[in-house]
Amino acid sequence: MQSKPIFRDDMLAGTVALVTGGGTGIGAEVCRELARCGATVHIASRKAERIAAAARALSDELGVTVHGHAADIRDRDQVRSLVAAVLGASGRLDLLVNNGGGQFLSPAEAITDKGWDAVISTNLTGTWNCTRAAVDAWMGRNGGRVVNITMNTRRTFPGMAHSVAARAGVEALTRTLAIEWASKGILLNCVAPGLIASSGMKRYPFSLDQVAQLARHVPLKRYGTVLDVARAVAWLAGPGGDYVTGQVITVDGGRELWGDWWAIPDPAGFPPALDIAPDPGEEPPPTPHGLVP
Ligand SMILES: NC(=O)c1ccc[n+]([C@@H]2O[C@H](COP(=O)([O-])OP(=O)(O)OC[C@H]3O[C@@H](n4cnc5c(N)ncnc54)[C@H](OP(=O)(O)O)[C@@H]3O)[C@@H](O)[C@H]2O)c1
Repeated sequence: MQSKPIFRDDMLAGTVALVTGGGTGIGAEVCRELARCGATVHIASRKAERIAAAARALSDELGVTVHGHAADIRDRDQVRSLVAAVLGASGRLDLLVNNGGGQFLSPAEAITDKGWDAVISTNLTGTWNCTRAAVDAWMGRNGGRVVNITMNTRRTFPGMAHSVAARAGVEALTRTLAIEWASKGILLNCVAPGLIASSGMKRYPFSLDQVAQLARHVPLKRYGTVLDVARAVAWLAGPGGDYVTGQVITVDGGRELWGDWWAIPDPAGFPPALDIAPDPGEEPPPTPHGLVP
């Protein structure tokens, strides 16, 4: 277990952070790591009772006050009130972690209009709503940092057409805002997790044994931990991130580079014969090392 702290306890002293979806999974671990490094942390998600209980549990565990707020990131009025509440309680907002989000696994042709709209409005528009509210109310005049939690977008993500489109949009938005708002002292980056053993994985309609099998598609042959992701966020929030903006930090054990879980059915008569005429006098080529026939 990677439980040994790697950042100083006071690295983020004086920093006020808001983590959406901070009551569960990756968000809760981000909250723990930021608080452990001395930040004052606010968490927000939709269900008042659930976020209050999570804030209480984290406060007890960490021995500091973690503030809980009920807010739906899709609702701009609620998001503006959320940011106002953070500023009212803590007087500043230095770090926004747009982690709240979600999706469902589905072949593209089975995604309903409602399902598409829900995933885009949560993961893309929700990120915009929170970022814009934080910048309007505080960061535009005082600077700050935004870390957006995305996913593997650079290759493909079959089964997640809606979410990969939303997250790629967030990554493009992040790069663009990093330019537009550089002069305001606002640094924006993304952390793109691969397969992470988090509570979010329990929400998919598969057994944990089936989910565990997916690790075979990861070069490092294991799921990432929530701490793997939280440390990347903390690094970007601290002095390590002072000269980093507009980037995507991928935390995926190499998953994006290799392997896939989406079976593409073979057409009839597959594989077609390869009929390549030898060059005059050509020796048969050796099988390259590592090539699976
Ligand atoms: N686990 C992975 O392998 C993985 C990989 C790549 C990306 N991610 C992304 O990383 C983030 C965290 O994932 P996780 O695994 O920790 O899953 P999770 O436990 O399901 O976390 C999602 C959080 O977002 C909140 N949320 C959802 N919709 C919201 C809304 N409209 N307004 C406010 N809060 C909302 C949820 O709380 P409520 O439902 O109570 O609102 C929940 O706390 C998600 O964006 C996820 O898609 C995860």
